[in-house]
Amino acid sequence: MRKTWWKECVVYQIYPRSFCDSNGDGIGDLNGITEKLDYLKELGVDVVWLSPVYRSPMDDNGYDISDYRSIQPEFGTMEDFDRMLAEMHRRGIRLVMDLVVNHTSDEHPWFVESRSSKENPYRDYYIWREPKENQEPNNWESVFGGPAWEFDAGTGMYYLHLFSRKQPDLNWENARVRREVYDMMDWWCQKGIDGFRMDVISMISKDQAFPDGAVKENGYGDFSPFVRNGPRVHEFLREMNREVLAKYDLLTVGECSGVTVEEAKKYANEDGTELDMVFQFEHMDLDGGETFKWNDRKIDLVELKEVLSRWQRELDSKAWNSLYWCNHDQPRILPRLGSLDPAYREISAKMLATCLHMMQGTPYIYQGEELGMTGGDFASLADFRDIESINAWHQYADTGKISPEDMMRYLQYKSRDNARTPMQWDDTPNGGFTEGTPWIRVNPNYKEINARDQLARKDSVFHYYQQLIRLRKTHEIVVYGEYELLFPEDPDLFVYTRTLGEEKLLVLCNFKEKEKCIALPEGWRPEQMTRLIGNYPEPGSGNENPPRPENGDAAELHLKPYEARVYRM
Ligand code: NOJ
Repeated sequence: MRKTWWKECVVYQIYPRSFCDSNGDGIGDLNGITEKLDYLKELGVDVVWLSPVYRSPMDDNGYDISDYRSIQPEFGTMEDFDRMLAEMHRRGIRLVMDLVVNHTSDEHPWFVESRSSKENPYRDYYIWREPKENQEPNNWESVFGGPAWEFDAGTGMYYLHLFSRKQPDLNWENARVRREVYDMMDWWCQKGIDGFRMDVISMISKDQAFPDGAVKENGYGDFSPFVRNGPRVHEFLREMNREVLAKYDLLTVGECSGVTVEEAKKYANEDGTELDMVFQFEHMDLDGGETFKWNDRKIDLVELKEVLSRWQRELDSKAWNSLYWCNHDQPRILPRLGSLDPAYREISAKMLATCLHMMQGTPYIYQGEELGMTGGDFASLADFRDIESINAWHQYADTGKISPEDMMRYLQYKSRDNARTPMQWDDTPNGGFTEGTPWIRVNPNYKEINARDQLARKDSVFHYYQQLIRLRKTHEIVVYGEYELLFPEDPDLFVYTRTLGEEKLLVLCNFKEKEKCIALPEGWRPEQMTRLIGNYPEPGSGNENPPRPENGDAAELHLKPYEARVYRM
């Protein structure tokens, strides 16, 4: 397997609005990030992925860009950006920018031109279609609800927007559009950035017949088969690779909704002709359902193991995995797979971190995950800011498809705003995030859960993440070892091994709030095992190291609630 820095690094995602506000306007900014770089250095991460900071009307918090080459004033200036980048590099931290090129804002000058007349040279930068029988050109539903087509009275045609109507889709069939994108990427690379996280990049190529999609329960059609991993997506990415990526030493990760293992082998192929890795969604979609993600279903551990293990096995030596539990689109992982009970909150946060960070792939930490942050404390619709959540309320609660009580519970559990509450730095008002009024409610649990406390306590979640990151730096097997799942049917434990040459790791994670006892897997002998890391203190925990043989060779392992342990042989 090819060895590269981006396989060996750990990435930290910053959602700039919610990270650190340096000027008291209630919104995080670039200078706030610069102030906190020593904190990231102490954690030990190598790369920052920065969610969009470009000029934007903020219909979707910056994923609607109106100028790719300037900074949104509430985040700061280009000088602030340059200083932040220089300060990152001075500390040996690389910067990955968010690249949002499936769509722009409707306020982008290209779109303003495009909609102005059918003859405008920019007309073909976007996807325009004539009405069909006085209606939308097809039945596709947008990701944020409602039709994916918006009628433009000026020219009497519809434009496609797979997300909000303020996010018109770019027409990637047009070579001039692709050239503009590549030039813009090159401009950022010349500035010295170190990579791109590519927003919904699996959706840039659309089936040009624009056929109706299978009709869903709500009457709209599903665009997936005609858009996700579309007909020319690999061709476009190979072109992008030749035109831009290959000229620089970058980390590239494609957000690939709808990606299968087979497709990922192309996107993230080991030859490096497209991208380095992809974000897949299979594990995060396990608790989805008929009403999209709006439910309070729990992820089943056996299914989770099946999905993650399939990705581990299938991509090994053929492509590369990214590893994540959290990002700005996912609710926090603790209420989802861990525990909010104060007795187990930190223990389970460490267990989940162990389970993920010991797999093969590049781990991504989302801001606040390293503190064991829990999500939002939202009481009513007025507390939510996210366009997806607010639209979903109108779509399901206002129409009576889901009762308001249930829908509020689902939003509280699954809304993207759960990831977007301000970073909890200390126990001063607003968690030290801002001296003004935060743009979104801070979770009042900042008094207990905050970075200052975590840094001060040796046994904190923060220091555990720090140890996991160090293990990756000191043990090649953590990066490159081959993965194998054990006990696939066990409903409570996630157990796997990693193998590199003669060396082996055994990773044991108890996902349940109960004690579990299992036999030591075949080939593992207590006297040859040393514990690398664990989330319960070793002495007096009943977890002797190595595990004690009970009769002859056989030995049993007793795992406490949410316990995680890693052994090396
Ligand atoms: C994926 C981004 O992560 C999400 O936040 C955004 O709403 C959509 N793409 C549209 O850009």
